[in-house]
Amino acid sequence: MTKTDSPAPGARTGARPAGQPGGEGSTRAEVRQLFATPVAVAHLGLPAQVNRELAETILAREASQPTTEHSNLGGWQSSWDLLDWGGPAASAVISAGKALAGKLTCDRQGQPRAVEWRVNAWANVNRSGHANEAHSHPGAFWSGSYYVDDGGIGADPRLGGEFELRDPRGVAPAMYAPQLAFAAPGGLSIGAAETIAPTTGMLLLFPSWLEHGVRPYRGEAARISIAFNLSV
Ligand SMILES: [Fe+2]
Repeated sequence: MTKTDSPAPGARTGARPAGQPGGEGSTRAEVRQLFATPVAVAHLGLPAQVNRELAETILAREASQPTTEHSNLGGWQSSWDLLDWGGPAASAVISAGKALAGKLTCDRQGQPRAVEWRVNAWANVNRSGHANEAHSHPGAFWSGSYYVDDGGIGADPRLGGEFELRDPRGVAPAMYAPQLAFAAPGGLSIGAAETIAPTTGMLLLFPSWLEHGVRPYRGEAARISIAFNLSV
């Protein structure tokens, strides 16, 4: 008997012949969402003035500091010391990220667990043609990005600049029946990647091991974001 011949744990198969009342139709199965990947999409609701001030601060820093080179394909990326120069607004964003991470973190028994997060944070400015290649953030637990200015993406999807998340489930994107999906929560999400179109004020929080990138931005404004790592 192969492993797939056995009923799944928690499943009860009908002993009566198929087609009779109480036969196959009575099969009950518990569908376990194993290896789920949490990606939180939040909206901070900071006053527009706060985002404008953050944008000014970041653009001034861009004008005075050379870019660092990590995942960025063009564009500007600050050093990891945003909290030293970003002012109260940057601190508020990071505090919100830490609070959300706190809600979404537990111990291995599923019980709430307070964590004193170690933070490094930086800012990104992408202009027309700029992107970020897929990467992960080894050594951190949660990573996040906050959109100070979506550069017009929210109003016009043709401008690109989507946040891209790579399917982390090994060979799942290469499954042999791409026309089918699993009829379970999350089962439609099988592909090489998923995207989220950022809007100003959006905060994304995701596991640091999850490969992600930014698709090319084609707007004429500046797509400005804050990124951060929360480590233990
Ligand atoms: Fe990243």
